[in-house]
Amino acid sequence: MFAFLRNLKAKTIALLTLAAAICFTAIACAGGSPTPQAEGSSSGINPEVVVDYIHTVLLADRTAYTKHVVNRLKTLEGKPKEDGVVPAEATEAWKETGGIPLPAQMFRLGSEIAAEEGTFTYGLISPWNINDSQAPKTDFEKEAMAKVVETGEPYKDYQEIGSQKYFSAVYPDKAVAEACITCHNTHPVHQERYPDKQFEMGEVMGGIVINLPVEGT
Ligand code: HEC
Repeated sequence: MFAFLRNLKAKTIALLTLAAAICFTAIACAGGSPTPQAEGSSSGINPEVVVDYIHTVLLADRTAYTKHVVNRLKTLEGKPKEDGVVPAEATEAWKETGGIPLPAQMFRLGSEIAAEEGTFTYGLISPWNINDSQAPKTDFEKEAMAKVVETGEPYKDYQEIGSQKYFSAVYPDKAVAEACITCHNTHPVHQERYPDKQFEMGEVMGGIVINLPVEGT
């Protein structure tokens, strides 16, 4: 009789241990991958995670180009750069004058190639825009840009353009290199439009917008 009880107890403990192990594995696995969502990108990954990944790559390339290419040039938009070491100029008229593209132009060239894929779009905007086509346009962009300038943090939400629904995000575009602020602060269009605005290092100068098409609900 006692032997039977001992046996039963051992079996129960073994069963409980197995159940605990299964639970633990399930929780550990779920925590290791991005949360799948019913509503979202076609791949089933949370759109918030997708835009963050895209932004990381965009910002890394933009910063690397500005810091390690543009910042080393001897001339920036007609003005000599004292600590420049490469005898070339970054200028808006790069095609006509044998120079290289400005960081914003480089960013747009990339976004045009990426847009050919038709998966998502991205671009630059700013409340202190030099290029007319880069002012915040949709209601979402206007509200998001204002919030990003105020907080320095990304702003994300759903928006509808035409009949297409998007998960969109605006990330702060900050002055990460000296070249960002010297060029903008002395640009004739900037001086004419925003005479009181002088950017400082680290400041939010605009935003990187990413629009990820999602299925409507
Ligand atoms: C050598 C000059 C130069 C440098 C360096 C430069 N910019 Fe610009 N930037 C411009 C010009 C000119 C435009 C508008 C031209 C265009 O987009 O076609 C522009 C566009 C932008 C825009 C889009 C809004 C607008 O003004 O039209 C943002 C945001 C921006 N720059 C931020 C930065 C940041 C941040 C850096 C450094 C990482 C930087 N810029 C470096 C000259 C410069």
